[in-house]
Amino acid sequence: MTDPQDAIDAESAARASERDPRIDARTAGEVQEGIPFVGAGPGDPGLLTVTGKELVESADLVVHAGSLVNSELLEEHCEDAEQVSSIGKDLEELVPLMRDAHESGRSVVRLHSGDPAIYGAAVEQMDALEYEGIPTYIVPGVTSAFAASATLRTQLTLNGVSNHVAFTRPQGKTLDPEDDHIGEFVGMGDVTTCVYLGTHAVGETMDRLLEDGHDPDTPVAVVYHASWPDEEVIEGTIGTIGGRLEAAGYRASALVVIGDAARKAGYERSYLYDGWANRGGTESEADD
Ligand SMILES: C[S@@+](CC[C@H](N)C(=O)[O-])C[C@H]1O[C@@H](n2cnc3c(N)ncnc32)[C@H](O)[C@@H]1O
Repeated sequence: MTDPQDAIDAESAARASERDPRIDARTAGEVQEGIPFVGAGPGDPGLLTVTGKELVESADLVVHAGSLVNSELLEEHCEDAEQVSSIGKDLEELVPLMRDAHESGRSVVRLHSGDPAIYGAAVEQMDALEYEGIPTYIVPGVTSAFAASATLRTQLTLNGVSNHVAFTRPQGKTLDPEDDHIGEFVGMGDVTTCVYLGTHAVGETMDRLLEDGHDPDTPVAVVYHASWPDEEVIEGTIGTIGGRLEAAGYRASALVVIGDAARKAGYERSYLYDGWANRGGTESEADD
């Protein structure tokens, strides 16, 4: 097998000089030739897309994201398939596993948690497979921030409160402190900041926000296992959430939502359902 880094470099270079014709020929959600990278959604099997469900139900091999994919979903939809967890496997192991199965005529699905486009490391696997001549494509899923907002019964954008959403992660082993932008997003005021991969670091993250002078009363909600049967919500503020989370003991699998939208407080009626047309708004603007 080609070194995965060489494959990534070669695929990246090819993209720089030639547009992938499939971008124009295919639509998102369309079943295509090759290995689909399917978003399993946040956990509840009902939140898998119809296309995702059809693909995993007809798969011979499902390579899934381990404990981030609800075992109920695997039992319900992949009962007849060989199931392999990707946890602890590197590209050198994963790519030949999927390639060999595909080349021997087996139907392979790569099942990511949530949506593969968010902290999924899907593209490097896709590039390594494409370099080996195996087409790949993405079937989107419900990312955990959307499940968390549904749990909180809120919107991530909320008129008069939040016009923007940041999907982000905190500094740690794989992100340098200078690349941690949580403080900047929170400081913007009208951003709902959704922190992935940060359950273990909520206390430290909040301490940094406090040190940087952010309002300690800013609402924060931590949604553990959004959409799973053991889902839990811990609510607080930048000043209080660290202690509350420590008491709860969660170290992983939670989504941290920072900003007033988490509490659905102080929003204003939108223009959309307030005589929008009478104000001269057009349908396309309303859609935007
Ligand atoms: C490697 S990232 C994968 C994210 C995934 N691709 C998505 O779109 O949700 C894993 C992180 O996603 C978040 N996460 C995944 N599933 C979750 C769930 N059901 N509830 C809350 N957070 C979840 C957690 O922050 C976890 O640390």
